[in-house]
Amino acid sequence: MGRKKISLVGGGQIGGVLSQLIAQKQLGDVVLFDIVEGLPQGKTLDIVEASRVDGFDVNMKGTNDYKDLEGSDIVIITAGLPRKPGMSRDDLLTVNANIMKTVAENVKQYAPNSIVIVISNPLDAMVTLCQKITGFPHNRVIGQAGVLDSSRFATFIAWELGVSVKDVNAMVLGGHGDTMVPIVRYANVNGIPAMELLERKYNNAEKAKEVMAALVNRTKMAGGEVVNLLKTGSAFYSPASSAIAMAKSILYDEKRVLPACAYLNGEFNVNGYYVGVPVVLGSNGAEKIIEFKLDNEEQIAFNNSVNAVKNLIADMERLGF
Ligand code: APR
Repeated sequence: MGRKKISLVGGGQIGGVLSQLIAQKQLGDVVLFDIVEGLPQGKTLDIVEASRVDGFDVNMKGTNDYKDLEGSDIVIITAGLPRKPGMSRDDLLTVNANIMKTVAENVKQYAPNSIVIVISNPLDAMVTLCQKITGFPHNRVIGQAGVLDSSRFATFIAWELGVSVKDVNAMVLGGHGDTMVPIVRYANVNGIPAMELLERKYNNAEKAKEVMAALVNRTKMAGGEVVNLLKTGSAFYSPASSAIAMAKSILYDEKRVLPACAYLNGEFNVNGYYVGVPVVLGSNGAEKIIEFKLDNEEQIAFNNSVNAVKNLIADMERLGF
C-alpha cells in the first residue's frame, strides 16, 4: 500500500510551508509544482534534506511539469499572485482567474480523481472557477478560508481573555473578504460564552460589546494587517497550517467540522454559490454542510457577505470566466 499523494500547485510562500508541514507530519508524498524553473525543485530538495534531522519518510518532487500531478489524492492550489499593501483580495481577480483557468484544466487532465483545496485569492471566486473548469463534483472542490479566519478570531479572543487559545472555539462564516461573519454568539472558552467572560472581565456589558466588536473587526482585517507589515506578500504560515488541517481531515477521514468554502445547494438559504460554512470533511471531501439557525443580526451580516460573493462571481463572469 503506497503513501497518499498530495500535489501542491504553486511553489511560492504558502506552497513551501505546505510542503514542509506535509513532510514533517508525514501526511503523504509531495509533488510541488510551479512555473518558475528550479523553484519547486530547490524547495523540495531543501526540505527533504532535513528528513534525517526531523525523522520523516516521504518522497518529495519539485516539478514544472503538470504530468507529475498524476495519481494525486489531494491537490492544494496556491498558484497566483498575493496581495500587496493597499490591494483588496478582489483586486487579484483578473490575473488569478487566468492562472486558475490553466491550473484547473491541468488538474482535470492529470488528477481527475483528486480532492482539490483552493487557497488562491479572491478565494470564493477561485474555488467557483476551479470547480467550473474541472467539472469535479462540488464535494471534491473546496476552499480554505474559514479555518484561518476562525483561528485568527480565536487567537484574538484568547489574547484578550488571557487564556490558552486551545480552549477557545470561534467560527467565522461567509465570504473570504471584509464582509466575513465572525459568529460572536457561539464564541466560547471551553463551552463558556466568550461574551460572558468579557462582561465579567469589564463588569460592564457595553464595554464588553465594544471590546468584542474590536476583536471582530481585527479578525475581518487580519489578512490586511499582515500584508501591511510584510509589504511584499500576504500571510503564508497560517494559511498553510489551515489547509493542512483540512487535508488531514480528508486523508484520515476524520470528519472534522471545519468552516470551509463549500458549495451551497439551498443550505443557509443559498443556492448555487460557494460560501464559507461549517462542513464535515472526510474521505469524500466536503461530505455534509452543517446548518444551524442564525439570529437576525447574523443573518443580515451573512446575507451581506453572500451578496459580496455574488457580486464577485458576477464580476468574474463579466470578465469572461
Ligand atoms: N501556474 C502555477 N504556478 C503559478 C502560476 C501558474 N500559472 N502563476 C504563478 N504561479 C506561482 C508563482 O510562481 C509563485 O511561486 O504561484 C506562486 C505564488 O506564490 P507567492 O507569490 O509566494 O504567493 P503565496 O503567498 O504563496 O500566496 C498564493 O494564496 O493566499 C493566497 O492571496 C494569496 O493568491 C495568493 C495565493
